[in-house]
Amino acid sequence: VWVVDNVVDKKSSYPQILQAAALLRANEVVAFPTETVYGLGANAASTAAVKKIFQAKGRPSDNPLIVHIADHNQLEEIAADIPRVAYTLIEQFWPGPLTLILKKKGNVICDEVTAGLSTIAVRMPAHPVALALIQESSLPIAAPSANLSGRPSPTSAMHVLADLNGKIAGVVDGGETGIGVESTVLDCTTEIPTILRPGGVTKEQLEQVIGRVNVDAALLDEKQVPKSPGMKYAHYAPKSPLIIVDGEPFFLQQLVDKQRALGKQVGILTTEERRHVYKADVVLACGERANLSTVANRLYDTLRAFDDTDVEIIYSESFPADGIGAAIMNRLKKAAGHQIVREK
Ligand code: TXA
Ligand code: MG
Repeated sequence: VWVVDNVVDKKSSYPQILQAAALLRANEVVAFPTETVYGLGANAASTAAVKKIFQAKGRPSDNPLIVHIADHNQLEEIAADIPRVAYTLIEQFWPGPLTLILKKKGNVICDEVTAGLSTIAVRMPAHPVALALIQESSLPIAAPSANLSGRPSPTSAMHVLADLNGKIAGVVDGGETGIGVESTVLDCTTEIPTILRPGGVTKEQLEQVIGRVNVDAALLDEKQVPKSPGMKYAHYAPKSPLIIVDGEPFFLQQLVDKQRALGKQVGILTTEERRHVYKADVVLACGERANLSTVANRLYDTLRAFDDTDVEIIYSESFPADGIGAAIMNRLKKAAGHQIVREK
């Protein structure tokens, strides 16, 4: 694949962005940085182009994609009956990590993007390279996270290449992404807007701007069927089983010791504050507990790093589920297949 080196700001790297935009216009798929995770972009108006995304990722075709735009005018070309609350949110959070589910308009966006649904997911990313690329392509860009289906989302160009080298036309390297977890998906077609996927914009932030916000029942009870098709798939899974431990470090260490006594290679996912209190075969710190946005930022890279070790089982600390913690715990629970051990 064609890789553009460290396109950190848009001015110094415009020739490369133009090259990537030309590939998108030629209906090729190109990975690019956003403020959340890397996306795998294609022309959202072209069935042929969008099919390449599903093929490269091995993504089930019933899982719809987010359309990325760089200009507010693009919104009204692809969405209909946009409620007032959506405009209020756009004013406050775009560009940024908030995806809105709206009624789909007309047939500009091909059916493969929306997986045949009557709604469409739209967001304007807050990354200079993403915005410049979308602008230069003059296209609405369909883009899921640029990982193989089932792998942790990529937060660096290296992660993208680890999964998709040889399967895509190129990747624009913009260094590491800032937020580290995906955008919040908010359904604006319900009377009270409903969070379908917790992400970069927190529930608390949304409520400050629009008042009451609901949460999809499936996020609170794993037995419910999620309203967002993508949320039903096992996701972000490391190669070895992951178990979340809700308890004190001493309790986690006891669980680890038992496994090691059985001869297992054991990993621990912890934070900077606690990394020195544990003893295991591999101990990886994922940001600082005192600043959960650093945990969000490091989460996927840390899950991937365990795959490069010989551990056979991973125990992870648990995190408070408010603020950005809601997104962290949602992803961690999925990675763990909802295996949680609670200290009595
Ligand atoms: O931060 C992000 O959102 C990243 C970057 C690249 O923008 N993208 C991303 O895309 O996470 P993806 O495809 O990995 O996740 C999109 C989520 C899926 O859970 C999908 O089911 C949901 O959005 N979605 C898309 N269209 C939808 C719709 N019409 N109704 C309900 N959920 C929808
Ligand atoms: Mg994804």
